[in-house]
Amino acid sequence: DIVKVHGRRVWDSRGRPTVEAEVTLAGGAMGRAIAPAGASMGSGEAVDRRDGGTAFGGLDVTMSVGAVNGEIAEALYGVDSEDQETVDNILISLDGTSNKSRLGGNAIIAVSLAAAHARAAAAGVPLWKSLAGDRKVGLPLPEIQLFGGGAHAARRVDVQDFMVIAVGAKTFADSLDMTAEVYRAAGAILAERGKLAGVADEGGYWPDFDTNEEALGLTVEAIEKAGYLPGDDVAISLDIAASEFGKDGRYRLARESRDLDSDAMVALLLGWVERYPIVSIEDPLAEDDEAGLIAFTKAAGKGLQIIGDDYLVTNADRVRHGQAVGACNAVLVKPNQAGTVTETKAALDAAHADGWGAVVSARSGETEDVSIVHLAVGWGATQLKVGSFTRSERMAKWNEGLRVAEAIGDGDLPPRASFPWGAA
Ligand code: PGA
Ligand code: ZN
Repeated sequence: DIVKVHGRRVWDSRGRPTVEAEVTLAGGAMGRAIAPAGASMGSGEAVDRRDGGTAFGGLDVTMSVGAVNGEIAEALYGVDSEDQETVDNILISLDGTSNKSRLGGNAIIAVSLAAAHARAAAAGVPLWKSLAGDRKVGLPLPEIQLFGGGAHAARRVDVQDFMVIAVGAKTFADSLDMTAEVYRAAGAILAERGKLAGVADEGGYWPDFDTNEEALGLTVEAIEKAGYLPGDDVAISLDIAASEFGKDGRYRLARESRDLDSDAMVALLLGWVERYPIVSIEDPLAEDDEAGLIAFTKAAGKGLQIIGDDYLVTNADRVRHGQAVGACNAVLVKPNQAGTVTETKAALDAAHADGWGAVVSARSGETEDVSIVHLAVGWGATQLKVGSFTRSERMAKWNEGLRVAEAIGDGDLPPRASFPWGAA
């Protein structure tokens, strides 16, 4: 049984306040988790509760932390922690809103994850093992950012994430080795051409590019400079995060001074897919452009992974709807979009039930918390996205993956044929 729930204010990778929760069980086992925070958020996400006012730009979380130490601690006292769903249902009904705005999505996800950690601690096993039980599990294939743009880099380029996936990697460790070389190569090329302007929110280079396509070309160069075959060894993955610059069927590419309608946006992306070794595109169209998402999926969905993030917001009902209408073929799984562990798993299960892929993902505002690595492994997600290959809030996750790989026995990435790009 839960005997104590404690919340405290800690700081995230953007230097903003966030919520940490600790759940302690009768036997003394304790679990701890920290809420992450997004910058390019879907309108259907669970809402973080922030204090407003002037301190820390209005982003303080003392009311959320207060909810953990007050109402939530009271409601969970004495509750059987063996069942995550019981704990999460209490949190959901205590909050009482559809978007968790009363207590705060940040308070609720921290407590929900901390309860999962406490259960694992009581059982004396790592969280991934506690979630997997006796099922055989493996490591997810990493998706790693080279360049940051959009809301994470003052819109220097419109596309938010230029990433690589080491599709030819044999093991998790191998995929990190390959990505490390590509990341280094990309930095060297940028520096050589005087186009390096720092790092963006997720640790990817903040490039001084004039067009989105310049980043695509440079990614191919970096893959080659690192000694790999673009497409075969290392491929490109994009998060367009189109809701950030697209609305009501218009897409404004600020950097290129172009204003596209939905059809033209689809055509632009199809052109990129044609010319570059791209295997995955997230949020290709805006969350309010379902017709565009359907059209793009129809045109490109065979052999290309199309991930819904803002459009699906880790919501099982939305995933099932996306499947029914034929928009996207994979879901991004962010626990704090759903708000509880149970709802997060429901979205992932809904994806898997219809043959969709699931990519467990961090947020742009992160911490040393590595829960998502355990969720990905324990739930059998085949991919993991946590940002770049620098900064310890990112590397903490990759390094945790190496520890898990060692425990499981690496050599255990999902077979290439199980990904959209491997089926052809
Ligand atoms: P966010 O971005 O965490 O800032 O929302 C990540 C993403 O869009 O995948
Ligand atoms: Zn996204």
